[in-house]
Amino acid sequence: MRYKEDFIIKTYKRFPVAFAKGKGAKLWDVDGKEYIDFLSGIGVLNVGHCHPDVVSAIQKQSSLLIHTSNLFHISSQEELAERLFKLTGMLSFFCNSGAEANEAAIKLARAYGKPKGKYKIISALNSFHGRTLGALSATGQEKYREKFQPLIPGFSFAPFNDLSAFTSLMDDETCAVILEPVQGEGGVYPADKDFLRGVYELCLEKGILLILDEVQTGLGRCGALFCYQLYDIKPHIVTLAKSLGGGVPIGAMLAQPDVAEAFSPR
Ligand SMILES: Cc1ncc(COP(=O)(O)O)c(C=O)c1O
Repeated sequence: MRYKEDFIIKTYKRFPVAFAKGKGAKLWDVDGKEYIDFLSGIGVLNVGHCHPDVVSAIQKQSSLLIHTSNLFHISSQEELAERLFKLTGMLSFFCNSGAEANEAAIKLARAYGKPKGKYKIISALNSFHGRTLGALSATGQEKYREKFQPLIPGFSFAPFNDLSAFTSLMDDETCAVILEPVQGEGGVYPADKDFLRGVYELCLEKGILLILDEVQTGLGRCGALFCYQLYDIKPHIVTLAKSLGGGVPIGAMLAQPDVAEAFSPR
């Protein structure tokens, strides 16, 4: 088959296949060839392709109402926030993607740090937090960053799993550390227990927020509902997306209630 890519701006390198149908762990391409899907939409489909509950929820909602806006109460959004609160003790802000959830986390950390003049964020080399300008500023991979420099100031990078390198970057202007509990896009590198717990304890000691990017690790992917539970820590901010919507674009930033207070309606 010929692919009609002439009208698409070239950003992603694509494999020469287009899928037409999916069910559970299987996919079928436009020519009917069957595949086993080991990629699951890069960690989006934790319950598989076209899970009947996901399909029926989309069908039901789309036949009732597709959009209002954040100017009004959205009962399904409030219900999800309550469920997430019962699971995490955190309040939710909803958006459409992982990058946006990280944008919100960066903004919340800056708003929280502002009264004390704190705005710097420490991230890990080899990390991935998304392709929007703020999320990219937090992403420690030069190949994604180089074309868009200069990025947002205030970000610095230390090698993943190197506690002393992270410690040496912390100063009185540091408002947050952002980390993936398992680096995903960078090559599947789990955080050592001593490292993540060490960063967490330093953050508590120095009044720095710990943002955990669980866009890829969250919602059961690592064996617990949230990966941070496996490390026995309580991050201040957690970002989610991907499998939160089972393929529908939903992102969320979860924050401890006292941190969330740094945001107010505008
Ligand atoms: C850890 C992590 N954070 C953020 C993102 C960006 O999410 P999105 O593609 O939904 O913007 C990704 C995407 O792969 C990711 O793996």
